[in-house]
Amino acid sequence: MKILVINGPNLARLDIRDSSIYGDLNYGELKSLIESAAKSHGLDAEVRQSDDEATIIGWLHDAADSRTPVIINPAAFTHYSYAIRDAAELLKAPLIEVHLSNPMSREEFRHTSVISGVAHGTIAGFGPNSYVLAIIALKNLLSGAN
Ligand code: DQA
Repeated sequence: MKILVINGPNLARLDIRDSSIYGDLNYGELKSLIESAAKSHGLDAEVRQSDDEATIIGWLHDAADSRTPVIINPAAFTHYSYAIRDAAELLKAPLIEVHLSNPMSREEFRHTSVISGVAHGTIAGFGPNSYVLAIIALKNLLSGAN
């Protein structure tokens, strides 16, 4: 089954972001990890990244129309994009929110997620493994295991 993994702004530049917060993988390595973790759980992950809010909203609209399950790391949009939240609310299949870091242990502006309320659940703070855990959770959801 096809799943869509959406990464928001600045995540393509993990190579120059703080590795003590976001881990050691660059974006290409993170993308490969996600693709292979999905494959090992029988899922076909299409992994995308955009710094542009409108582009992400368009991808969510397409996923709503095609009933595609979504894993999203909205990055900084997490904290203020009501437009992404409203688009995410249109999804018909499960949505899982992920973060590399644990936003709740960071600056106060990161403590609010406007996306969490429309996600099935959120996985945060495990570095690149947050995505692997999200894939396992999504696989379980899709097979009716939880
Ligand atoms: C992030 C956390 C956000 O607060 C931040 O703006 C990001 C990445 C994470 O994966 O830890 O860009 O979503």
